[in-house]
Amino acid sequence: MKGYIFDLDGVIVDTAKFHFLAWKKTARYFGFDLTEALNEKLKGVSRVDSLKKILDWAGTTISEDEFEKLATEKNEDYLQYVNKMTSKDVLPGVYEFIEKLKKEGCPVALGSASKNAPKILKKTGLYDMFDAIVDGNSVTKAKPDPEVFLIAARKIGVKPEHCIVFEDSEAGIEAANVAGMTSIGIGDKRVLIDADQVFSNFIEIKEKFINQLH
Ligand code: G6P
Ligand code: MG
Repeated sequence: MKGYIFDLDGVIVDTAKFHFLAWKKTARYFGFDLTEALNEKLKGVSRVDSLKKILDWAGTTISEDEFEKLATEKNEDYLQYVNKMTSKDVLPGVYEFIEKLKKEGCPVALGSASKNAPKILKKTGLYDMFDAIVDGNSVTKAKPDPEVFLIAARKIGVKPEHCIVFEDSEAGIEAANVAGMTSIGIGDKRVLIDADQVFSNFIEIKEKFINQLH
């Protein structure tokens, strides 16, 4: 039996755009524009590591206190968007896709770097669909380190080589590949070049393809 591991932001829900808006504000504070291309490098990356990258791009350093303050402010901005979320914010085809896997008895896990993952899953009504939830509260090493996916695989009792990971970030695809799992990119083929296969969304994933994976 195959195991299915889903990233959260940008795969299950469109929160990637909320992270982008919130980090754009932080970048503006340091006097530069966070472009979409630069933002690709933040996708899948933990809050702390994202802020470190922004400081690097700004060519500046700050005190630990200010670092803490900016990370908290970014999260507060981000949560203003998240707090308005409902089941309508689940990306097209995702609910049906996971439901089908569950009906077939396939183990399903979440593998996300976000500390806000439980909150988002509860707000969108998806929390109970997962057999295991591994998120930013339980991992120590950020993607592209494979830790999050390896823990998820262990929790659902499936060998890494039998796991299929759905990811929208370069860091996440790398993490899945390093873990020895099948990596499915959700997004742009030109960005997710190292993925085993890329689809623009879950509606595009046809039953035939999933049957091949089983
Ligand atoms: C995901 C997102 C990143 C985000 C990270 C931490 O991996 O793709 O953009 O920085 O989670 O999220 P958090 O909600 O804990 O700030
Ligand atoms: Mg993501």
